[in-house]
Amino acid sequence: MTDRYLVTGGARLQGEVSVGGAKNSVLKLMAAALLAEGTTTLTNSPEIADVPLMADVLRGLGATVSIDGDTVVIDAPAEPKYHADFDAVKQFRASVCVLGPLMARCRRAVVALPGGDAIGSRPLDMHQAGLRALGAHSAIEHGCVVAEADALVGAPVALEFPSVGATENILMAAVLADGQTTIDNAAREPEIVDLCVMLSQMGARIDGAGTSTLTVTGVDRLHPTEHRVIGDRIVGATWGIAAAMTRGDVTVRGVAPAHLQLVLNKLVDTGARVDTLPDGFRVRHDGRPTAVNVSTLPFPGFPTDLQPMAIGLATVADGMSVITENVFEARFRFVEEMVRLGADARTDGHHAVVRGIERLSSAPVWCSDIRAGAGLVLAGLVADGVTEVHDIEHIDRGYPNFEENLTRLGGGIERVRG
Ligand code: UD1
Repeated sequence: MTDRYLVTGGARLQGEVSVGGAKNSVLKLMAAALLAEGTTTLTNSPEIADVPLMADVLRGLGATVSIDGDTVVIDAPAEPKYHADFDAVKQFRASVCVLGPLMARCRRAVVALPGGDAIGSRPLDMHQAGLRALGAHSAIEHGCVVAEADALVGAPVALEFPSVGATENILMAAVLADGQTTIDNAAREPEIVDLCVMLSQMGARIDGAGTSTLTVTGVDRLHPTEHRVIGDRIVGATWGIAAAMTRGDVTVRGVAPAHLQLVLNKLVDTGARVDTLPDGFRVRHDGRPTAVNVSTLPFPGFPTDLQPMAIGLATVADGMSVITENVFEARFRFVEEMVRLGADARTDGHHAVVRGIERLSSAPVWCSDIRAGAGLVLAGLVADGVTEVHDIEHIDRGYPNFEENLTRLGGGIERVRG
């Protein structure tokens, strides 16, 4: 038996909440620490389950890692091991981002194909094509990505899609390659910019961070650094959407509002009043949210990681919303859990059509991934009665102190230990 939440609906969320470092940044920054022998320190690391899991992956590669609250200290060895085995990587997808650093340091890597969220097939073809462009051989063998190169030589790489993970792996391989690499159609997510900032502090030469073309000039070696992880825009926006859904008033601190511009604009379209602050934003809603259409896209588009929360909002909005998922093909699986809560929602291919109703009706529901889990808790907050949310270890992977924060905002939530 795993833990579950009992979520009591009806409260209006009110107050202030602080957001920690971004999960999708810290895990990549931890991998990037492998690029330089010596001690790299990351601060503002979120206290989520994936951070110690990533620490185990790095330990398996020969690093020493300590975690103390929001500080992670990684001592990377002179000669990392190059084999990340299945036991280390199976529990989470981000483990695959050691591939680029291992290629850069060891010129070879064997990384077991990771597990991760049930949101659709997640191939690594673009990661591999990028490494091949830099002169590596790469194949999938016995459940592992195997890559090897006599030398990594900078080259033009054009991505078919601005994949976050492929951009990161190719970037981290290119920083220690010979000569210049250009990555066209690169991902522009704030977490990629954060990685570029840290790599530059380590001595990497990168131009174009935050644009679709990254130009990397390889250097001989990098040095360790100290870096503060950016705030988690997905966690921050989750609280903002929860405020609008519950007709509440929530101030979110610790996240750059510029990383959420489109999401905040959508909340304004629902009738919310949104104020941006130097280190966050405030969302107020005193009526029923108006239905809005949402279409997920790579940054600066609407994040796919907030699609379940957008569906949650749509279930109680006034009118009909069309939510289109353009990034992960199977990310609507959780919608049947929303239907269990009485939502009037149906999906057809990569569209979901949701007719808002006044109030959902509590029921037992099951989380299938981190974000779907958070979306189901938000739905529980606007349901009559007590909603039992099962398999909440998914939520623990991405939301630090989730029930403490929700309780502080006035939400009815209780963790029942398995
Ligand atoms: C990262 C985030 C995840 C977020 C996603 C999109 C982490 C740990 N996870 O995942 O939370 O939802 O970005 O913002 O940072 N694809 C291929 N071939 C490849 C690589 C990707 O076809 O080689 C496809 C994927 O199947 C998916 C799309 O490209 O359909 C986008 O994936 P990608 O941007 O790579 O997401 P991740 O890095 O896995």
